[in-house]
Amino acid sequence: MKINSNFQRLSQRYLFAEIAQRVAAYKAQNPNAPIIRLGIGDVTRPLPQASIEAMHRAVDECADGKTFRGYGPEHGYDFLIDAIIAHDFSPRGVALTRKEVFISDGAKSDTGNIGDLFAVDNIVGVTDPVYPVYVDTNLMTGRQIRFIPCNAFNGFTGDIPTEHFDIVYLCYPNNPTGAVITKEKLSQWIDYARRNDAIILYDSAYEAFIQDDTLPHSIYEIEGAKECAIEFRSFSKTAGFTGVRCGYTVVPEELKVDGVSLNALWERRQCCKFNGASYISQRGAEAVFSPEGQKQIRDTIDYYMDNARLIRSRLAGYGLTVYGGEHSPYIWVSTPKGEDSWSFFTRLLTQANVVVTPGEGFGVNGEGFVRITAFGTKEDSLVAAERIGRIL
Ligand code: MLT
Repeated sequence: MKINSNFQRLSQRYLFAEIAQRVAAYKAQNPNAPIIRLGIGDVTRPLPQASIEAMHRAVDECADGKTFRGYGPEHGYDFLIDAIIAHDFSPRGVALTRKEVFISDGAKSDTGNIGDLFAVDNIVGVTDPVYPVYVDTNLMTGRQIRFIPCNAFNGFTGDIPTEHFDIVYLCYPNNPTGAVITKEKLSQWIDYARRNDAIILYDSAYEAFIQDDTLPHSIYEIEGAKECAIEFRSFSKTAGFTGVRCGYTVVPEELKVDGVSLNALWERRQCCKFNGASYISQRGAEAVFSPEGQKQIRDTIDYYMDNARLIRSRLAGYGLTVYGGEHSPYIWVSTPKGEDSWSFFTRLLTQANVVVTPGEGFGVNGEGFVRITAFGTKEDSLVAAERIGRIL
């Protein structure tokens, strides 16, 4: 018997588990420390009222034998798929069929699981700094990963590579840097993919935070993307579903590798390994698209974006260099005087009682930065910014 030795290529703990462990150890020693957590991007505002009511109704349906729901359809319920197409894609000029949308329990699992479709000897390009799931899941499989440096010079969108990759992960608005990508730059990535017979895995989990309507919400707004891209979306940050769990993945019918439909492969994979997001979650997600739901999520996103503005302006006022936070809940902040990111993380934890995420945890190009989330309360964001200012 042998284990999958690829697990030995991973760091001992997943980044956010490592941070949680360090914070827990500090808290155990300092039980009264007034810790403010702006590390993991977990939301703090309650679910939209429209979703709460829809989920209550769904539970009641399941309490009655006549309306009870067991296993759902493999792709997800049509009521949710139709709402997604009508609200997230049609208004932006993207035509999708029901067959192309797969409801899931979130973008994290889908961005990891999608690797089942691809051969182990594909070369994977990831932007660096990067959401660690893309790296860790490919390491687990045994794939080779190459890093595409992202920095202030290329707007954290990477230079189009001269080398060949088979798979490229892109995430915009970006986790962790908060950067956005223009349609022009995204077109360059699509041209690259088409020239290289590569697939782009496009994580658009933060699109609802975009404030400038000329920026792309979906990669399919760009011509040619349906032939080379898969897109991941999530209700987690958009509608407070980090605990409820619901997301979706779009696999266009045009997307083929050597004549094989990736849509058919993903359907086959999902039918075999996944039993869907619950009926209750899907009804909650559907309600996000109701007029009340839309207003409620907009109010919540505005609340977080106010936090982002506040954190950005305070930290910039202290002389730190800040990026992101304009179309994204993440603020990417240079450490003071070139301090290394784990050391600044530790100082912030122990001297300011503020938890952030050290940039190095997202890749070598994250060194010299920390990521701060705007998902806290307004009070916490204000106090955290002040406390950070005091220890610089
Ligand atoms: C993050 O902090 O990067 C996110 O919360 C992680 C996630 O969405 O899985």
